[in-house]
Amino acid sequence: MDLERAIYSRRSVRSYTDEAIDQATLRKLIDAAVQAPSAVNEQPWSFAVITDRALLGRICAKSKAHLLRGAAGRKIPESFRGRLEDPAFDIFYDAPALIVISSVDRGRWAVENCALAAQNLMLAACGEGLGSCWIGFAQIWLTSRAGKAALGLPTSYLPVAPIIVGRPAAPAAAVPRKEPRIRWIAP
Ligand SMILES: Cc1cc2nc3c(=O)[nH]c(=O)nc-3n(C[C@H](O)[C@H](O)[C@H](O)COP(=O)(O)O)c2cc1C
Repeated sequence: MDLERAIYSRRSVRSYTDEAIDQATLRKLIDAAVQAPSAVNEQPWSFAVITDRALLGRICAKSKAHLLRGAAGRKIPESFRGRLEDPAFDIFYDAPALIVISSVDRGRWAVENCALAAQNLMLAACGEGLGSCWIGFAQIWLTSRAGKAALGLPTSYLPVAPIIVGRPAAPAAAVPRKEPRIRWIAP
């Protein structure tokens, strides 16, 4: 797939088939992720790849409870509350794999570096005919001590980007874009 097509056709996918994604394919996505630029070329990212459904279910339950408690002083928007209170709502949309991109330290550019790797990974997934979605709902609990322990991550790590990956069950509708705010500054 060419770059322009990948950029314009990538969508956040929220419905997946049961098909497992093999390690070689997931590894290919990670290889694309690490081609991202990083500050001072530190490449401080690490990838936890979770295909264990029981663990995904546990992270989902913990994340929902954490958000509903208003953890870390963050009040969740009312529009999310109903969904999070629904025991049937899976924040991972039954995807077969979750890749959590973490920074190995809390350096000044930790979030920027991992977010760039995440975008590469999502575009590469699109190129492979796979769907993906960044799951912010999982992010806050995963950054807690218990969340990092669930993934076997050292406490010094900073989980930044939980990305689900799988075979889309149906094409995802395009989401409209706002007109970009551009200020041309020319001589
Ligand atoms: C930081 C971040 C957090 C997100 N968290 C969620 C999430 O928890 N659940 C979800 O369904 N989508 C989540 N998304 C996906 C956005 O809703 C999606 O990117 C946006 O609606 C635009 O749609 P598109 O990705 O198909 O272009 C998140 C995206 C980003 C960048």
